[in-house]
Amino acid sequence: MLRHVRHSPFDRSSRGRRMSEALSWRLTVALALIGLGLLAACGDQSGSTASGQPTVAPTAAPTATRAPTAVPPTRVRPGAQVPTPEPLTTEEIGPAESSGDPVAGAQLFASLPPEALSAGAVTCSSCHHVEPGSGTLVGPSLSGVGARAATRDPNLSAAQYLRVSITHPNNYIVDGFTAGAMPATFKEALTPAQIEDLVAYMLTLP
Ligand code: HEC
Repeated sequence: MLRHVRHSPFDRSSRGRRMSEALSWRLTVALALIGLGLLAACGDQSGSTASGQPTVAPTAAPTATRAPTAVPPTRVRPGAQVPTPEPLTTEEIGPAESSGDPVAGAQLFASLPPEALSAGAVTCSSCHHVEPGSGTLVGPSLSGVGARAATRDPNLSAAQYLRVSITHPNNYIVDGFTAGAMPATFKEALTPAQIEDLVAYMLTLP
């Protein structure tokens, strides 16, 4: 039956098929033209027809404001295992040496004043051991931290690294620890003088 149809050009069903082929071709052309028209209309409204464009556009603005520090957006997630460097001012980095008082720093380390605690600070010694040979409490032991601090960041002296460790704890994450585990409240809750005393104290830890 099918063979017969193929060999007779004037067969009804063959003609019908050619007609419907012509019709569907015309339909295809018409649909394509409508589609093009719609695309052009969308382009006029949004400035772009690419479906990715509108979602990219809003994120472009925040990235642009962060541009000077070149912080990749993927690093800003809290709780991630990667450091989340925040831009540092020269004031925050401070001088290469510490001008603090190590004795006052030792007192602060063991017990912060009430106003610092109520401003959100948490006592350092509740998370850090300092005795030589001590291990992890919540954070790493700070025994000998002065020597390690000098090697953490090629751009920072030991005192500068320790200052930044207090004010921006997520800029460097000690191996085996989690970003966000050390509170980031000290920058606001402690005075610059208190931070300086803590730095001076930590530099003396054997
Ligand atoms: C709630 C617990 C907690 C408190 C409170 C805390 N820390 Fe930490 N600290 C950590 C953890 C966890 C780390 C390791 C993760 C990291 O590097 O951020 C750390 C890291 C550090 C480091 C980096 C050490 C290194 O080897 O590079 C220093 C310095 C430090 N803390 C000092 C302090 C000082 C000073 C205070 C008080 C003003 C303090 N910490 C309060 C948990 C704490």
